[in-house]
Amino acid sequence: MAETPTAIPLEKIPQHVAMIMDGNGRWALQRGLPRLAGHKAGTENLRRVIRASVEFGVKYLTIYAFSTENWGRPPEEVKGLMYILEDVIDRELNELHKEGVQLRHIGRLERLAPSLQGKVLSAIDVTKNNDRLILNIAFNYGGRDEIVQAIQRMMKDGVPPEKVTDELVSQYLYTAGVPDPDLIIRTSGELRVSNFLIWQAAYSEWYITPTFWPDFDKAEYHHALESFAQRDRRYGKVSSGELQESNA
Ligand code: FPP
Repeated sequence: MAETPTAIPLEKIPQHVAMIMDGNGRWALQRGLPRLAGHKAGTENLRRVIRASVEFGVKYLTIYAFSTENWGRPPEEVKGLMYILEDVIDRELNELHKEGVQLRHIGRLERLAPSLQGKVLSAIDVTKNNDRLILNIAFNYGGRDEIVQAIQRMMKDGVPPEKVTDELVSQYLYTAGVPDPDLIIRTSGELRVSNFLIWQAAYSEWYITPTFWPDFDKAEYHHALESFAQRDRRYGKVSSGELQESNA
């Protein structure tokens, strides 16, 4: 049986992992540092997590970098997060491209500075044929906003009510064509969905850890994958083992 170097059978590796990278602020506070230092440490960690995802054989990684609600943070923090996105593209794009990572964006681009919008669009274009890992960056993203926009577009397209199905709604979301996340990891111990992929997460498995995002390392990522590999996903039905027993 094909196995990853880390001994989780490949078929048990989630195809799509999504991450709520929470706890940067508290990580910084614990060290007496400004919040932006936490986001910088979080960015360093993101680099490691992207590489680990490629190594583990994850095909889609979606990261929650900036929510539609994050505009309510202090202006210098908002500015800092915008700068981080720009800096990540400037510094990391070549390397990510070489490694076969395809960058995508989910969320509303239009509120970002035009120069940043241009960089995001150009990064998407440069990497569009890569297929080792699809990296969806949720930036200025909100799950409700995504659904509202999908409904608006369906109405504009004149979709009749009886044609509105699960599959059709999925096609109108930013994630059209992307499988729903199998596993969602949330760091820093909060037990909330925070408006992240609320449609797509209907049957996702969750892994929640008290570790702050900058400290969420490869070993713990691997542990999350091990935990996922042991789950019995029933999608509201009964497990296949139980069915066999009751039919015996
Ligand atoms: C939540 O922690 C984290 C964020 C709102 C930003 C996440 C951003 C990064 C990890 C940097 C990578 C970014 C890009 C654009 C690629 P928090 O600030 O809410 O932490 P707290 O709950 O401890 O205050």
